[in-house]
Amino acid sequence: MQNKMTYYITTPIYYPSDKLHIGHAYTTVAADCMARFKRMQGFDVFYATGTDEHGQKIEKTAAAKNQSAIEYVDNIVDNIKKLWKTLLITNDDFIRTTEARHEQVVKKIFQKIYDQGDIYISEYEGWYCTPCETFFTERQLEGGKCPDCGREVELLKEESYFFNMSKYAPKLLEHIETHPDFIQPEARKNEVLSFIKSGLDDLCVSRTTFSWGIPVPFNKKHVVYVWFDALINYLSIVGFGSDEEKFNKYWPADVHLMAKDIIRFHAIIWPVILMALGTPLPRQVCAHGWIMLEGGKMSKSKGNVVDPAVLVEKYGVDAVRYYLLKELSFGQDGYYSEEMLVNRINSDLANDLGNLVSRTAAMLERYFDGIVPTAETAEELDQTLINLGEKVYREATAFLEKLDFANYIAAVQKLIARANKYIDETEPWKLAKEQSQKKRLASVLYNLAESIRRIVILLAPAMPTLASRTNAQLELFEDTEQIRWEEASQWGVVRPGSRTHKAQALFPRIDVSVLGREEKPPFYETAEKKIAEEKKTGTEPAEQDEITIDEFSKMDLRVVKILECSRMEKTDKLLVLKVDLGGEIRTVVSGIAKHYEPESLIGKKVVLVANLKPVKLRGTISQGMILAASDEQQGLEVLTIQSDLAPGVKVR
Ligand code: ME8
Repeated sequence: MQNKMTYYITTPIYYPSDKLHIGHAYTTVAADCMARFKRMQGFDVFYATGTDEHGQKIEKTAAAKNQSAIEYVDNIVDNIKKLWKTLLITNDDFIRTTEARHEQVVKKIFQKIYDQGDIYISEYEGWYCTPCETFFTERQLEGGKCPDCGREVELLKEESYFFNMSKYAPKLLEHIETHPDFIQPEARKNEVLSFIKSGLDDLCVSRTTFSWGIPVPFNKKHVVYVWFDALINYLSIVGFGSDEEKFNKYWPADVHLMAKDIIRFHAIIWPVILMALGTPLPRQVCAHGWIMLEGGKMSKSKGNVVDPAVLVEKYGVDAVRYYLLKELSFGQDGYYSEEMLVNRINSDLANDLGNLVSRTAAMLERYFDGIVPTAETAEELDQTLINLGEKVYREATAFLEKLDFANYIAAVQKLIARANKYIDETEPWKLAKEQSQKKRLASVLYNLAESIRRIVILLAPAMPTLASRTNAQLELFEDTEQIRWEEASQWGVVRPGSRTHKAQALFPRIDVSVLGREEKPPFYETAEKKIAEEKKTGTEPAEQDEITIDEFSKMDLRVVKILECSRMEKTDKLLVLKVDLGGEIRTVVSGIAKHYEPESLIGKKVVLVANLKPVKLRGTISQGMILAASDEQQGLEVLTIQSDLAPGVKVR
C-alpha cells in the first residue's frame, strides 16, 4: 500500500520548431491547474512536460538556418522553459527527446517489441507531410494535400519497420468499451472508436530518408518514427527501466492532456505500444478543443500567433491563466481576442472579484480600524452565503476532477456574485450609522472575509498569485504556500484580529487603448504617462459654448443599477437594459454592444439621463440614456459608480 495518493499528469511534448503560442500555453496551464489542485488535496503529484525534438521538420529548419539540429533546438527549448516559468508552471520534470535517458528507453522498447515479433521489416510507399510528421494514403489526401494542415505532401518509398497494430485492435476496442472514462470527452471517444472499427493498418515506425532521430538499435540506417519516439517520453520521464521505484509509484499516468489534433496518436498508437510492452495503460486520455482566432487557426505563416509572454507582461499571470481556463468550454473550440481578454479582466476580475476584496477591506478599515472582528450574530442571509460556499466547493471539486475548467471557474463566480449581493443586501454602510447594529456589522464583515477566503482557495489552482496578493490587502492566510483544498469547505477559519493593509488593487481596470500594443511599461502606466504628456503639451479640449448652472441642473442625472441586459436582435450595436432607478424599473436601449458583453454589465451601477425624452429604437421604447466616455482610439467606457451609493441617487 502506498502511503500517499499519487497523481501523474502530462502535457504533449511540444515541437521546438517555433515559438509556442497561447494554444500550447492553454494545455500547459490547464495541466498546471490540475497539478496544483491535486497537490492542494494532498496528492503526491508528478507533472511532466517537455519537447519533441527529432524529425525531418526540425532537421530541415535547422539546416536552412545553417545550424546543427541540436544548436537550433537548444535555443528554442530555453525559451520554452522560460515561458513556463513566466506562466508559473509547476512541472516536476522536463523531458527532451534528445536526452540520453530518453533515447535509451526508446531503443530498449523498440528492441523488445521487435524481438517478440510485433515489429517487422517491409516496404512503405506513401504521401508524407513533413510539418505533421505523418504519412497518408492517396485516399486520405484532400485535394492532393495534407488532410490535417492543407500543405504539400511528398511521395516517399522506403524500406521500413512496421508495428503490428492490427493484432491489438480487438483488445484496444475492448479496453475502450470497458473503461468509459479512458477517452474523454465522449465525442472524441466515438471518433476513436469508429476509426479503429474502420480497420487499423500496421504502422510504419522507422524512416531512412533523414537522420535526425533515434537510430533503430539493430539497423543504423533507420531512425525511429518520431511519434513512436515521442509517445515513449511518458515512460522515460518517470523512470521506466531506470528508476523502478519512481516508475511503480507514478505509473500508470492519471491523465494525458492534449488538444483533439493528437487524440488518435494517444488513444490508439500509444495504448497499443503499451499493450505490446505489457505495461498498464494510462487511466485517461483527455482532449480539449482548439483556441481559434477570428480569422481561423493560429499559424506562423498567417502572422497571427499570440505570444503568451507578451500577454502576461501586459495583464499579469493570474489574469491570463484565468482567461484561458474560462474561455474554452470542455471539449469545445473557443475564440481568443485581446478585447475579450480585457473585457473579462474588467468585468470578472476588476469589477467582481477585485471590488469584493477592496470593498471588504475598505469597510474593515473604516468601521473596525482594519481589524477583522468576531462574528456574534447569525441571520438567515448569512446561512445562505455559507451554504452556497459549501455547494460551490463541491461543484468546483467535481468540475476539476473532470478537467472541466470553464465550469469550475463559473461555479466559483457564483460565490463571488453571491458575496457581492450580500453586501448590497446587508447594507453595511447603514448598519454603521447605528451603534446598536455594531455586532451585526461585525458579523457581516467577518462573513465577507470568510467568503473571500473560500473564493481565493478555490481559485488558487487557476491563479497562483491570488492568495498572496489578497493577503497583502487582507490577511486571510497564515501561509499562502500551504493552503489545502478542503479548507475551502470549512467555515470560521479566519482569525478575528487579522489586519487589512493598503495595497495595490488586485486587478486594476484596464484601459482598452492598450489593445494590440506590445510595449512596456504595463497598461496603466502607459495610460497615465499619456495623460501627463498631454497635460505638458497643453492638449486642451476645444472651447465650447458655456452653459449656466441652471441649464445644467435641468438634466436629471441618476444612479441606476443594471438588472438585466441582453443584445437586441438583428443588430450588433444595441443592448437592451432593464435598470432600477430606486424602485422604478426603466428600459433603456444603448449603443454599446460592441464594447461590452451583456452579462458583464449586470449588477453594475451607472449614470442615467433620466429625463431624456423617450424614443423608440427598433420597436423598443428607450426611457433614458446611459453615460459613457469614448473616443476613437481609446474605445468606450460606461461611467460606473463604485461606491455604495444606492440606485435613484441624484448625480450633480
Ligand atoms: O503535436 N489550441 O506538438 P505540437 C489549443 N510534438 N491547443 C493547442 C493549440 C491551439 N490552437 N495549438 C497547440 C505535437 N496546442 C507533438 C506532441 S506528444 C507525445 C507529441 C497544444 O507542438 C495542444 O495541446 O504541435 C496540442 O495537442 C499540442 O499543443 C500540439 O503541440
